Amino acid sequence: MKVIPIAAVCGRTVQAAACASDAVAASSGAVAANAGSAAWHLIGALDACFGENDCLGVTIDAVKVGLFRVDGEIHALDDICTHGNALLSEGFLDGHEIECPLHAGLVDVRTGKGTTAPIVRDTRRHDVRVDDGNLYVRLSR
Ligand code: FES
Repeated sequence: MKVIPIAAVCGRTVQAAACASDAVAASSGAVAANAGSAAWHLIGALDACFGENDCLGVTIDAVKVGLFRVDGEIHALDDICTHGNALLSEGFLDGHEIECPLHAGLVDVRTGKGTTAPIVRDTRRHDVRVDDGNLYVRLSR
């Protein structure tokens, strides 16, 4: 019997640029061009970071960011659940919803909206771009 997983169990947390290849890291460093929170931060080579329907936790300028790859799109949210002290990137990804590992609240990774109790506050989103196979995140203010 073939078992088909319906949810991905996530849980890796790395520093920004930790999954970058040596060549990428050497050429651009961990932070792209502009200084400050408006900068694009290199996370690494997209396919080295994570696979499809997977999550990754990164820390950028002391901000924990959860990255979620679903249906070919990458979404970035604050990683700390708005309900308590848990990392969404260590939860269970089922389609576009991440289930918090602590109290099972659900968040839509596309919008940051909490979709079930006990989550009542939305999660901040961050900008994401993929350039030449490399994944970048720009923190929201
Ligand atoms: S800490 Fe996330 S739902 Fe409670």
